[in-house]
Amino acid sequence: MSIIKELTASLKEIVNNAGYEVENLILQPSGRKDLGQFQINDAMPLAKKYGKAPRMIAEDIAKLLEQDNRFTNINIAGPGFINITLTDEYLSELMNKISEDLNNNIDKEQPKKIVLDYGGANVAKALHVGHLRSANIGEALKRLARLLGHEVLGDAHLGDYGRPLGLVVLELKHMYPELPYFDESYEGDYSEVELPITNADLEKIYPLASTKAKEDEAYLEEGREVTAKIQSYERGYYDLWKRVVEISKADINKTYKELNVDFELWLGESDSAEYFEELIKIFEDKNIIVESEGAKIVEVIKEDDKAPMPPLLLVKSNGSVSYETTDLATILQRKKDYNPDEIWYCVDGRQDLHFEQVFRAARKAELVDENVVLEFIGFGTMNGKDGKPFKTRDGGVMTLKSLIELVNEETLKRINPETVPEEERAEVAKTVAIAALKYADLLPYRGTDYIFEVEKFADLEGKTGPYLLYSTIRMKSLLNKAKELKQERIHTLKGETETEIALTILNLPIVLTRSLETKTLNDIAEYVYKLTSLYNKFYAENKVLVEENKELQESWLVLTKLVYDINNVLLDVLGLKVPEKM
Ligand code: ARG
Repeated sequence: MSIIKELTASLKEIVNNAGYEVENLILQPSGRKDLGQFQINDAMPLAKKYGKAPRMIAEDIAKLLEQDNRFTNINIAGPGFINITLTDEYLSELMNKISEDLNNNIDKEQPKKIVLDYGGANVAKALHVGHLRSANIGEALKRLARLLGHEVLGDAHLGDYGRPLGLVVLELKHMYPELPYFDESYEGDYSEVELPITNADLEKIYPLASTKAKEDEAYLEEGREVTAKIQSYERGYYDLWKRVVEISKADINKTYKELNVDFELWLGESDSAEYFEELIKIFEDKNIIVESEGAKIVEVIKEDDKAPMPPLLLVKSNGSVSYETTDLATILQRKKDYNPDEIWYCVDGRQDLHFEQVFRAARKAELVDENVVLEFIGFGTMNGKDGKPFKTRDGGVMTLKSLIELVNEETLKRINPETVPEEERAEVAKTVAIAALKYADLLPYRGTDYIFEVEKFADLEGKTGPYLLYSTIRMKSLLNKAKELKQERIHTLKGETETEIALTILNLPIVLTRSLETKTLNDIAEYVYKLTSLYNKFYAENKVLVEENKELQESWLVLTKLVYDINNVLLDVLGLKVPEKM
């Protein structure tokens, strides 16, 4: 249990000993530090329960608090707010306990098994800025959930199924008709076939094929046939499709690696195909399929729906399945393979209707136990200055690679040539660029849109990734310079800024628990900025290395190490890497 929770429990006991029973004592950090560091507001609700003036109750409690040598400056404000302050000795002791083991400042939860569906890249298509958000937010939630004790399997859930892939294979057939994949008499091993295409080619082929299909009905029809061949595992077509997926996947993974994002599972929509039959049978057996113009649909509307809720399309009239079907079948697959307690989907907020339909249909068909949580974690878009989804200068889709390149150019300008040798500069700039981009992406509440402002994101000052990295490196450098000095424990935190730092540290478990509850990262992003800037204030106020009071110096160094360690944990949760220098 975290220290702040223990403290709350112990205060609750004191209130009980004063003769008042409280269920959940609320210990609030106070905005007026001159009155007290914390406020206990329970006298008011207790007054109702015991039919007594709140101030009298507050006085009874305050009397006991005064006898406790952990607290000081106990006073009652207004109708019965009890202000308390921790003594310097006690606060120092608490910080020492945390610096012994950071787990003393984290509330672990009852472990659950979670499958987290994020990333969602599409095969043979360039990653775009929307995929950035899913990767960043999903990865950070995964790390946060693990920090709090859960078991999480991240699944990239590749878009590797359906017509787009059929069109790519068709276009390859038009470009390279001589490939053995299209030769029915070929009996050799396809893995030995030289394929003259790269990922960059694939990214061009898909838009080309898709335009052709729009303009040419015969081409589209041919595309349908190829798709059907792939999906019925026809030799040649199926094998070429597999190759395309492999080429694309390798490139997608490279970008994810750069973003410090990695997946335990690399399954795709296509991996759900083997469950289609079983899925449809479940729906049929439960009698919840409606035949409509040759299609199989499922009604998911509820009586109290305010917004329109169209039925879910399970099987189209031509016999093919929909995006919804792949997600439903994936639920079956996940249940069978991992039997998770929860499945989370970190996907663009504009897909909320899709997931609402899928979840309702899954519940209706009882695909998972009713206590299994299915949760949609939607996010807003990254916009340009015009308030519309961020585009290239000529109005095209901004690929993730060019976006990273934009930020990279900006961070490169800001790397200090005196500390980073020429040959390392590009590498360091890249790490800083990724941090700049990721931090800016995690700072706003995930549900809202935000504006891409490269100069702001890359700035070394202000609420930015580079500022956090730079400050953390400076803490490390101070600790390195102080290697020979004693760094065992904190004796005092008397300085106002040090006290503020310590109180901020005590509040960390509350921020972590709440963030996981709401599946948001903005509070953690704000928190690490707050802690870092408080530390920098302290750093500017004091000359640690030349301090003559040795106990004070030791206290400062241990506090520095503590902030440094917490920053590392939190930056790691957010998925930011700290370079050696910058
Ligand atoms: N590939 C989809 C897209 O780019 C996102 C997939 C989201 N995950 C899911 N289980 N449907 O829009």
